[in-house]
Amino acid sequence: MEKRLLIVIDGPAGAGKSTVARMLAKKLRYRYLDTGATYRVVALKAKERGITPEMTAELDRLCAEIEIGFGDNEEGQRVHMDGKDVTEAIRTPEISMLTSRISQERVVREALVDLQRRLGGPGVVAEGRDMGMVVFPEAEVKFYLDANPQERGTRRYKELLDRGIPVILSRVIEDTNRRDRADQNREIAPLQMAPDAIPIDSTGLTPAEVVERMITEIEQRAYGKR
Ligand code: DC
Repeated sequence: MEKRLLIVIDGPAGAGKSTVARMLAKKLRYRYLDTGATYRVVALKAKERGITPEMTAELDRLCAEIEIGFGDNEEGQRVHMDGKDVTEAIRTPEISMLTSRISQERVVREALVDLQRRLGGPGVVAEGRDMGMVVFPEAEVKFYLDANPQERGTRRYKELLDRGIPVILSRVIEDTNRRDRADQNREIAPLQMAPDAIPIDSTGLTPAEVVERMITEIEQRAYGKR
């Protein structure tokens, strides 16, 4: 059997990371690790407790206490916060913006990077912003997935509508751009492409086409197949 690899995917919001990572993991029979969900759960808990991003000591305590878990059911992967299913609750536009803000805090990043490293390893497809540069620099295969801003915003818009969240397209595009600027310009672990990452532009491609391209790259890079 071929060696099991650690594969990471970084990129901005709406580039298609989650869809593609999930499909790739299924195809390879690997586990899918959604690191954005871990930040989203912390943001949701902070909101519930009335903790703002400036309240560093409270955030630190929250990160130490919170239990973040992943489970599966017939609908796919579910996200749990202290035993409660929060899969839908962490995807609202409000939580997306708050997550981007709270993920800039050092105490949050340190706690979650630790957790992510425990959940990662061979046989995992991990997806996020700092996978290749910070969390898993040793990953055998790194992808940087991008798409043009209009398409990324439109994808997010459709995703939210599908979940029954009423939104306006121009507003979603604006929010996506604002979140990307924040994620790219923050001080700690900003979104950036690792020097050894393989860039893929998903504009105009279906998720299946992106996955196919990734499989070709994995075979060439990790297994030396031409
Ligand atoms: O991938 P996502 O949209 O679920 O991520 C939500 C936010 O979490 C995103 O705006 C930035 C942050 N994030 C991060 O800082 N580092 C990661 N590895 C993943 C997400």
